[in-house]
Amino acid sequence: MVDTVNRKDTPADARLVGAVDHDIREDAFPIKGWDHVRYYVGNARQAAHYYSTAFGMTLFAYRGPEQGFREHAEYALKSGGVTFVIAGGVTADAEATRHYAVHGDGVIEVALEVPDVDANYKHAVAQGAIAIEEPHDLTDEHGTIRRAVIGTYGETRNVLIDRSGYTGPFMPGFVKAEPMVAPPEKRFFQAIDHVVGNVELGKMREWVGYYERVMGFTNIVEFVEDAIATEYSALMSKVVANGNRKIKFPINEPAEGKKKSQIDEYLEFYGGPGVQHIALATSDILAAVDAMRERGVEFLEAPDAYYEDAEMRERIGEVRVPIEELQKRRVLVDRDEDGYMLQIFTKPQQDRPTMFYEIIERHGSLSFGKGNFKALFEALEKEQAKRGNL
Ligand SMILES: [Fe+2]
Repeated sequence: MVDTVNRKDTPADARLVGAVDHDIREDAFPIKGWDHVRYYVGNARQAAHYYSTAFGMTLFAYRGPEQGFREHAEYALKSGGVTFVIAGGVTADAEATRHYAVHGDGVIEVALEVPDVDANYKHAVAQGAIAIEEPHDLTDEHGTIRRAVIGTYGETRNVLIDRSGYTGPFMPGFVKAEPMVAPPEKRFFQAIDHVVGNVELGKMREWVGYYERVMGFTNIVEFVEDAIATEYSALMSKVVANGNRKIKFPINEPAEGKKKSQIDEYLEFYGGPGVQHIALATSDILAAVDAMRERGVEFLEAPDAYYEDAEMRERIGEVRVPIEELQKRRVLVDRDEDGYMLQIFTKPQQDRPTMFYEIIERHGSLSFGKGNFKALFEALEKEQAKRGNL
């Protein structure tokens, strides 16, 4: 039932995340795809249960004190090609315990699968990457994984992984685990589309430049400040992507508004820069949203005015379902010259108003929902006002 992490992408997977034809062998920093996202949380066992029930993910591997890893309990869950590793501290001085005290639940590592860890690491460091862990082998009876770590914004890290020499359930030390709850009949999402970072005022260009230099990414979309400013909230955002567009890192910084930007709220409560949201690609956003709502996930609610606005309707044009179906679920639509996409955002998924998720269904469009930002921000601000942080 649980497929292996070493999977081959199909053309449908590529369409799902807006990937384009491109030979990664031409890249200075070739990337095969997302490997996994690793979190530090306050209670990994309970968070893993939440991702199992509310997000329809399936626990498939575990590593903890029972396997001789005395500091952390780590739960690896998947949904199609999406793998999350939820780690919690077992001791007071574990890295996750300290990280949780500072940041609350959050992403510590965004891991990328690469063909040659040493070559990528060497290139990155020569280009000024923050060196955290040099290439090294992790080995158990199932083989060897080659791994290296470079730094990015805040305490977040990008991990480089070559798992071509490994056949175990996930990573050395992990043992196969049974699902915590019965997996859903149909998965809610199957691929990571993009991972967004929030950085401090004035730092966006610096981090865009970092990914351009270190990973050879290119800037694919740019929001100008006024395009996504509402009366009270504003942000600037740029998107960098790798050659085949599978790996997309939008980076936000706060912009001047009349009141506190949502990015400022994040930076204050997270205690610095970090991952703001992860977009999860689905082939059926209506079913995904229905299933997740039924399991208690709360989404941001776009106002009715969004669906009734004549200019908006004109811009949206024809999509695969009647607008009323989208309105009922508060799913947003955006269109560009290549097609359209449907998207919705959850509310923050931990106690602090920091990280959230996006569910996205792409139909040709490579956009990130620029046209939705105003509608979205109005909804976000309502939530921010309720918390007294506007
Ligand atoms: Fe997004």
